[in-house]
Amino acid sequence: MTSIGHSLSTRLLHWAMAFIIISMLCLGSSMIQSLDTWQMEAVKLHKSFGIVALILVIVRLFNKLISKSPPLPNDLPKWQKFAAHVTHFSLYALMLAMPISGWLMQSADGREVSLFNLITLPQLIHADIKMYSLFREIHGYVASLFFLILFMHIGAALYHGLVRRDGVLSSMTSGK
Ligand code: HEM
Repeated sequence: MTSIGHSLSTRLLHWAMAFIIISMLCLGSSMIQSLDTWQMEAVKLHKSFGIVALILVIVRLFNKLISKSPPLPNDLPKWQKFAAHVTHFSLYALMLAMPISGWLMQSADGREVSLFNLITLPQLIHADIKMYSLFREIHGYVASLFFLILFMHIGAALYHGLVRRDGVLSSMTSGK
């Protein structure tokens, strides 16, 4: 089946965010298991790149409004189309929930969040230890769910690219 692929802006945003989010999930999970000195620097970088991810997902949502996505293949079983829509919606929700819960957690801990020490962001809520532990837990649970949905998404992409060879994967790689 031949169809028009994703626009260049969609593809650039997709791969830049894929790189940042996978790195952030791995960095986040490893930094909480360490008390070494590198952990302090890692947390700083983690917070700044988390805000970059938040900015990018907002840009991506605007981009989605202006550039049309190609339809899924007509012969794809209905349940797979449904699963694709649910997964994509969940990925957007998680891309927003992850940085916002991190920012709320830091605000509730009374800590400033800055973008690479260049811009200091406003506190989202007042410092409150109970809210801190709530958002810390939410940040961890959302991360676990993100890992799960990402594995499903990558599995589906490989199924389209290697088994069905229906152009869905290449619409996001080469845009064809
Ligand atoms: C795409 C965005 C983000 C991703 C994928 C991400 C991912 C993670 C992950 C996987 C963990 C380990 C969670 C656990 O297992 O308990 C973590 C911890 C953490 N994240 Fe994020 N994060 C993001 C954004 C942010 C932002 C924007 C902030 C703050 C402004 C932040 C602050 C933190 C902090 C302070 C921890 C350590 C929490 C602790 O002490 O247990 N994160 N993050």
